[in-house]
Amino acid sequence: MKKNIWHETVKKNFNNASANYLSYSNIQKHFAEKIVSFVKGLNIQKGEWIDLGSGTGLLADEIEKIFSKENITRIDFSKKMLLQNKDSSKKILWDLNNGLPPSISKCSLITSNFCIHWLDDPEKIIRGWFSKLRSGGYLIISYPTINSFPEWKQTCKETNIEYSGLTFPVSRDIIQSFNSDEIFFSNKYLYVENFPNVYKLFRSIVNVGAQSSKCERKKVHELKEIQKYWPKKATNSVNLTWEINIQILKKS
Ligand SMILES: C[S@@+](CC[C@H](N)C(=O)[O-])C[C@H]1O[C@@H](n2cnc3c(N)ncnc32)[C@H](O)[C@@H]1O
Repeated sequence: MKKNIWHETVKKNFNNASANYLSYSNIQKHFAEKIVSFVKGLNIQKGEWIDLGSGTGLLADEIEKIFSKENITRIDFSKKMLLQNKDSSKKILWDLNNGLPPSISKCSLITSNFCIHWLDDPEKIIRGWFSKLRSGGYLIISYPTINSFPEWKQTCKETNIEYSGLTFPVSRDIIQSFNSDEIFFSNKYLYVENFPNVYKLFRSIVNVGAQSSKCERKKVHELKEIQKYWPKKATNSVNLTWEINIQILKKS
């Protein structure tokens, strides 16, 4: 799939999910809260605070609840997602595959929850974000890693059906170009979701606009096979396991 068609597909799906995103984004909320608990423990100096791929403002709102003097700039390429942010917030409509808007510099806090895996070259993009930090500034990212969705991948192997989920980043690659004194924190967390069947599981991905795939849409008989072979829990339900990495980089 050509890059620009891919970008438009991703944007369209997030635009379409924007109105109901907050009702379904349980995992994003969980990790937004974790990020907030890290932010609370950091001694952040004066400077701009920005949230990248901010969506509806879920993470930025949580941070502002604690740091009420901050007005976090929210950046996203989905207009409909940005429109869900509170009116008083600073918002910039921008495609993060093009780096950061020229107006951004000297940030003391940059956050990004569940966004970098949608970008073309996350390693390069992260270097660009890091370059916009002032001395002493922090960059905090969270994203699903390559080890996510083992049940789905295993089922595809068994049934010989192409895995149509995203290929998530390898955490080591994301920070490989940073010096050890710039890597303040890096940790992986498992998060397991449970659904009555795979149809509900795939619906949950569509509900947050994350269904974009470079593969062809699955046919009904393929979905039936996936449902049949996906490992079942005692209740006949199905799990989806995410491995999420939170990394904090600090500019010396
Ligand atoms: C799963 S949502 C996460 C939203 C928010 N960070 C949260 O925690 O709820 C991913 C967001 O990244 C945005 N996004 C994806 N690709 C982007 C790009 N190239 N430029 C800007 N935003 C992008 C989407 O529009 C969407 O709002």
